[in-house]
Amino acid sequence: MADLRSRYMGLELAHPVIASASPLTRELDAFKSLEDANAAAVVMFSLFEEQLRWEQESLEHLTEAGAQSFPEALSYFPPAASYRVGPDRYLDLIRRATEAVDIPVIASLNGTSREGWIEYARQIQQAGAAGLELNVYHIPSSLEESGRAVEQRYLDIVRAVKAAVTIPVAIKLSPFFSAMGDMARQLDQAGVDALVLFNRFYQPDFDLENRQVVPDLELSTAREIRLPLLWIAILHGKVRPSLAATTGVHSPLEIVKYLMAGADAVMTTSALLQHGVTFMARLVAGLSEWMDAHHLASVAQIRGSMSQQRVADPTAFQRANYIRVLQSYRNPYLDR
Ligand SMILES: Cc1cc2nc3c(=O)[nH]c(=O)nc-3n(C[C@H](O)[C@H](O)[C@H](O)COP(=O)(O)O)c2cc1C
Repeated sequence: MADLRSRYMGLELAHPVIASASPLTRELDAFKSLEDANAAAVVMFSLFEEQLRWEQESLEHLTEAGAQSFPEALSYFPPAASYRVGPDRYLDLIRRATEAVDIPVIASLNGTSREGWIEYARQIQQAGAAGLELNVYHIPSSLEESGRAVEQRYLDIVRAVKAAVTIPVAIKLSPFFSAMGDMARQLDQAGVDALVLFNRFYQPDFDLENRQVVPDLELSTAREIRLPLLWIAILHGKVRPSLAATTGVHSPLEIVKYLMAGADAVMTTSALLQHGVTFMARLVAGLSEWMDAHHLASVAQIRGSMSQQRVADPTAFQRANYIRVLQSYRNPYLDR
C-alpha cells in the first residue's frame, strides 16, 4: 500500500486529507466522527473577530456603528445566530476536542484587523490547538483602499499573530491579489507556516422579484479546483510555507491533482456537507487505491510532479498556453 504520510505546517499527518473549516465541527461529536472517518486533521469553524466584540457590545450597536467588515461577515453566514459561538465556548470546544481525538485540531480565526484577536490567538494556543488558520475575510469595497494597503493588512496580521504564538500559523488567502507570487513571497518572509489556497468568497445573488440581495452559500463543484491548482503549481518549490488546497475536492482525483500540483495538504468541506462526514473515508481510500493502481509508492513521490518547476513545459501555466488553446479552439456550433 502506498505511503500517504504528509507533513503540513510542521504537523505530521497520516495522509494529506483534512476537513476544512465548516459548521461540521460545531459539536464535539463531529470531531470524533471525522477522526473515525479517517480525517488526517480537522480545521474548526472560524471564530469571528466580530464575535469577540460581541462580548462587549450588542449586535445593534455594532450595526449602527457601521463596523466596516461586519455586514460582510453576516452575509457570509446567513443564519448568523446559529453560527454565533462565544469565544469562551470556542476555547472550551478546542480543549474538549483535543482531549477527545488524536488527530491535530487546527483552530480558525476570521477577522480583518489586528486589534482584538491577537490576545485570543494566545488563548487558542493555551487551549491546546495544534495550529491556527487565519481567514482574513476582507472585501476591499472602499475605493480609497489600495492594493498595497490590502497586502499590508494581511502581513500585519500574520506578523502580529506569529509574534503572539508558537504553534504553526496558516493563512487562508483570497485569490484576488494583483501579484499572487509576490504576496506569497511577502507572507513567507513574514513567517507564516502555511498558505491555504483559496478562500471562497461569498458572492451574493439577486432575488429579482423582491429586489433583494440574496445571502446564500453555494457548495463548490469539482470544476472549481482550477484556480487553486494553477497557483499551487506555480508556487510549489518557490516558497517555504506549506501549501494547502481548498475548493472543489469531490473525489480522489481532485486530491491527486492538487498533490501533483504541489499541495502538502488537501482540504474538503462541500463534499462532506453533501455526503456526510463518512465520505472522508472514501476519499482517503480512493487516494490510496489510485496510487496503488498507478504503482506509486508514496505521496512524497507525486507531490509537485506537475508543478511549474517540474513539468516539461513551464509555459503551460502561462499566457502562452492560453494562446495555444485559442489557436486550436473549435466551436462545435460555428466550425461544423
Ligand atoms: C457552510 C460553510 C461554512 C464555512 N465556514 C467556514 C469558516 O467558518 N471558516 C473558513 O475559513 N471557511 C469556511 N468555509 C469555507 C470552507 O472551509 C472551504 O474553504 C470552502 O468551502 C471551499 O472548499 P470546498 O470546495 O471543499 O467546500 C465554509 C464553507 C461552507 C460551505
